[in-house]
Amino acid sequence: DEMARYKLNKFHFHLADNGGWRIRIDAYPLLTRLGAFRTESDWLEWWSYGDRHYVPEDTPGAYGGYYTKEEIRRIVAYAAERFIEVIPEIEFPGHSDEVFAAYPELCCSGRAYTSGEFCVGNPLSLKFMDEVLTEVLELFPSKYIHIGGDEADRTAWKSCPRCRHLARELGGVDQVQCYLVEHAEKFLAEHGRTMIGWDEILKNNLRSTSTVISYRGQRGGIEAANRGYDVVMSPGEILYFDWYQADPSTQPRAMYGYSPIKKMYAFEPVPADPESAARNESIIRAEFVDPAAVEPIRADRADRIVGVQGCTWAEYIEDEEQQEYMIFPRLLAVAELAWTPQEKREWCDFKVRMNSHIPLLQQRGLNTFTLSDEVEITTRIRSGNRAVEVTLDCEKYPAEIRYTLDGTPPTPDASLY
Ligand code: ACM
Ligand code: ZN
Repeated sequence: DEMARYKLNKFHFHLADNGGWRIRIDAYPLLTRLGAFRTESDWLEWWSYGDRHYVPEDTPGAYGGYYTKEEIRRIVAYAAERFIEVIPEIEFPGHSDEVFAAYPELCCSGRAYTSGEFCVGNPLSLKFMDEVLTEVLELFPSKYIHIGGDEADRTAWKSCPRCRHLARELGGVDQVQCYLVEHAEKFLAEHGRTMIGWDEILKNNLRSTSTVISYRGQRGGIEAANRGYDVVMSPGEILYFDWYQADPSTQPRAMYGYSPIKKMYAFEPVPADPESAARNESIIRAEFVDPAAVEPIRADRADRIVGVQGCTWAEYIEDEEQQEYMIFPRLLAVAELAWTPQEKREWCDFKVRMNSHIPLLQQRGLNTFTLSDEVEITTRIRSGNRAVEVTLDCEKYPAEIRYTLDGTPPTPDASLY
């Protein structure tokens, strides 16, 4: 409902990850029976400090869940009524620990809890991919199907006889992943769909129809556009909703980082000139980057940027209230990135409007973050006249900001900014 209201028209549904398998697959019933529940809800207690084990579906006190096919159909239909396309993602070849809790023969060692990557040298892994994607295609009529592709570790492949053999045949261990991605791309193309994947898939010589999501900054997106692929910009350093949106000491536990709404709003999804590419890069790296040091998207490839996306990773999100808190109001900034051209995007203008939406979000029952009253201080040295210009800004509007110039803490009687 909120996506439709704010004119966001693609819902990327991340259905499998090492947190749990979340969609019923008839050909592989153990995925949801053995890979969808775990001993702990708290991510740190489970993954980082705990036993990192999955438990069977009916285990008392287990945390987890999955969508039935009927539920998926209802979600897809509900979205379609609102002109939203649901794009499913099944992760290959990494982020798949939960698969091997159910089908250990699909990882290199044949034992669960030894690695998170599929054994690409095992034909059963390709069969799994085809059969799972076949059921996914039946449920999701979307043009795009996302096959993951991110953060696969090569360690298990290097010591697996099957994967080593494949790597030798193909010319290197990197090619092991490329082989699987090419298989997915071909399979989806044969079924009339477009493959979409995280920016690691650029290691492949992709079909011109495949689409790349740039999540490790903007560089993959710029490279992909310049190589002629469609691109969705979602740099994690800027557009991940699981990053802190205000001073972490004032916030519930989040993933890490610092991405307040003003930072999100400053992103330029189509960095087709050196200045905007450098501005993006400065935000991503949190340091000044010279325009001469960044390659932008070539002007004739700017139309390759087909979208911009915010991602709500749920490791540190335990319930819907917390999810709403992390998404809102930052989603409003992402919507404007998607629809408003850079030259019409103005923080001071957006700031007023987003503040006016906070009570509206609340009236609709959303547990939105209500914006920070931290004051941002920006200083700029004016060349020539040896003056320093100081700007104070605050997310909240209207805001009364008081200041002193003698180093003493401001009181309510101090000068009004
Ligand atoms: C990702 O953040 N690994 C897509
Ligand atoms: Zn292997």
